[in-house]
Amino acid sequence: MAAGKVTESRILIVGLGLIGGSLAAALRAAGYGADGEGEILACDPDEREIERGIEMGLIDRGGTRLAPLVEDAGLVVLAVPVLAMESVMTELAEALPQAASDVVITDVGSTKAAIRDAAVGVFGGLPANLVLGHPIAGSEKSGVAAANPELYVRHKVILTPTVDTDPVAVARVQALWAACGAEVLEMTVERHDQVLARTSHLPHLLAFSLVDTLARQDERLEIFRYAAGGFRDFTRIAGSDPVMWRDIFLANREAVLASLDDFEAGVARLRRAVAHGDGDDLLATFDRASHARHYFESLLNQTSYQAEYQMQQQGKLTFRASPGGRVAGRIRVPGDKSISHRSIMLGALAEGITEITGFLEGEDSLATLQAFREMGVAIEGPHQGRVTVHSVGLHGLKAPSGPLYVGNAGTAMRLFAGLLAGQAFDTELTGDASLTKRPMGRVADPLRLMGAEIDTAEGGRPPLHLHGGKALRGITYDMPMASAQVKSCLLLAGLYAEGETRVREPAPTRDHTERMLQGFGYEVQRQGDTCWLRGGGRLTAAPIDVPADISSAAFFLVAAAITPGADLVLEHVGINPTRIGVINILQQMGADLRLENEREVGGEPVGDLHVRYAPLRGIDIPVDQVPLAIDEFPALFVAAANATGTTRLREAAELRVKESDRLQAMADGLAALGVDNRLHPDGIDIVGSGRSEGASYAGGRIDSLGDHRIAMAFVVASLRASEAIVIDDCANVATSFPGFVELANKVGLSVSQGSEEEA
Ligand code: S3P
Repeated sequence: MAAGKVTESRILIVGLGLIGGSLAAALRAAGYGADGEGEILACDPDEREIERGIEMGLIDRGGTRLAPLVEDAGLVVLAVPVLAMESVMTELAEALPQAASDVVITDVGSTKAAIRDAAVGVFGGLPANLVLGHPIAGSEKSGVAAANPELYVRHKVILTPTVDTDPVAVARVQALWAACGAEVLEMTVERHDQVLARTSHLPHLLAFSLVDTLARQDERLEIFRYAAGGFRDFTRIAGSDPVMWRDIFLANREAVLASLDDFEAGVARLRRAVAHGDGDDLLATFDRASHARHYFESLLNQTSYQAEYQMQQQGKLTFRASPGGRVAGRIRVPGDKSISHRSIMLGALAEGITEITGFLEGEDSLATLQAFREMGVAIEGPHQGRVTVHSVGLHGLKAPSGPLYVGNAGTAMRLFAGLLAGQAFDTELTGDASLTKRPMGRVADPLRLMGAEIDTAEGGRPPLHLHGGKALRGITYDMPMASAQVKSCLLLAGLYAEGETRVREPAPTRDHTERMLQGFGYEVQRQGDTCWLRGGGRLTAAPIDVPADISSAAFFLVAAAITPGADLVLEHVGINPTRIGVINILQQMGADLRLENEREVGGEPVGDLHVRYAPLRGIDIPVDQVPLAIDEFPALFVAAANATGTTRLREAAELRVKESDRLQAMADGLAALGVDNRLHPDGIDIVGSGRSEGASYAGGRIDSLGDHRIAMAFVVASLRASEAIVIDDCANVATSFPGFVELANKVGLSVSQGSEEEA
């Protein structure tokens, strides 16, 4: 166990309260002293605490005077209140034998500058064997009786050594805390005090103040009877040890005052907004705070910041789709994912205020939104698809304080790579397990040609480290694959590059980036298969209306196309010519699919899609449609399984590097249902049932591999299955299609969701 690394023969804890007592308890729990080697001693002015510590088996012996105990100690931990440190150190300086140079001294005080200054005063300089430290853990309880061996497990301990501190002493203190299960970090004294003033001292001050203010206004304390959970949560820490906290505020005066000034300015602003009835201002502040709070949660858990999504991921969400069902009604699916990502990105870089409607409130686009908040962009919303971006201009982004986590979103990572390669600051882009397996060399390589400096993990995989301050120059790039993400990445980098950035695509790919840039007044030219722009221009904010996502609509298009009696209208769907492969392919297969009410909103064509059941036939999918339907193949394969004859797809190897290997995942899933299919390196043949009524295949259990589109495709397949289809690992449906299950049930499918065990 980790305690094996604690080589001290005797550890002396000075001050046996909760913190010191818990340290002893944690060392005991880690096995320190179990074999008779290694003693824990304690010194405390309160004899009863020493007695209790011995009774509890936490310490071997102790006393109220320091001198006799110090002689034997190898490591001394000062765990007394901050303002008592100076007198304890004075006693220590007198008691320490001059020759005992290998004694290491550390402390647990919540502020560091005051203790360092006291040490300098007492010892005539900062001793090399003094390693100041602070375990970030505590409780409202006090005294050794409350000692908790788990108090430091997975908590941070900050050490603040200076250049003159003995590295061996630092290592010994690190080993002490590591044995208690803590994560040990280092920072400067000043930084420590600033950080703690904001994250710990200020909230304690506020909690004490709020409780006191209310209590004094209400002598009979009636008010507490009616206090709700929010009050309880907010004021829990007001029950903490008053003496300890008095000391902390006196000791960390400057940093606390600075954070209190910031806080007062914030409260004053909110006060003004309340007084003037300024709802927008209140909303903007609350929104920022609420999202920051969720993001904080996600950083701690290393996962998504939507609480619900988080729970689902932990519980491995499973869908159960009952066989059969109807498909009828008028629905609008959520906003386009590609356009939503771009609306935030370009919105942030424009000048002015960008108002977005129809924004997709899915995990992927929310990750993009949050990343910009991390880079200092004020963003209100989303509220029912409405987002207001307070644009900062092309050079207004600020360095984020940590890595930008984009979850499952390949589009976010690849477009960010281009956008951030030209910034003055460094960034790190990370994602979830699925994204971490996806190729990023396709963007890193051409960006390097432009002069960017990018590190990737092995095989060109995430995380990506982008080094800031590099001068980019325009290039002419012949894309080896038809990828809108690569094209968009380079165009975004091109905004920051000297000269022209030209991208040639082997086949047309979605052109939302080009359209939106033009909508923001940035000139993008195209001739044949090549588009280009010149760096150094400006973007001017303009409103963006995000149409419904044709990639989400595709599941319902196929649902209606395979279900006898179906009659469904999908409203306000984006029908950009570079996205309508699914419509073209379904029509070629014989689907009764009409475009109605066609119009253009904000530079993107939209229409209502009206689809009724008609028997489908298998086709050879035209290769020119492949990039135009690249995300819709999982749904189209389900259509193929219900058609007459064989549907053949080729030149679609890109499907193997999506959120999953979609060729393999669909081939396995279809086979599980008994659908005859044959996999090829770049495609698949699917033999349809050819039945125009009843079931086309069996039911079964499918692994979606965490791929949202695989999961949704098999829900749709259930309409023509003979038994239920159970689909595992479905939480990622929330990345592109929040509310999918509800909408599916609304039109007449029968889908339930629960944990793996429930299904
Ligand atoms: C997207 C482009 C496509 C697509 C993805 C979204 C975009 O990826 O599959 O879902 O928004 O640019 P590729 O560029 O890798 O084909």
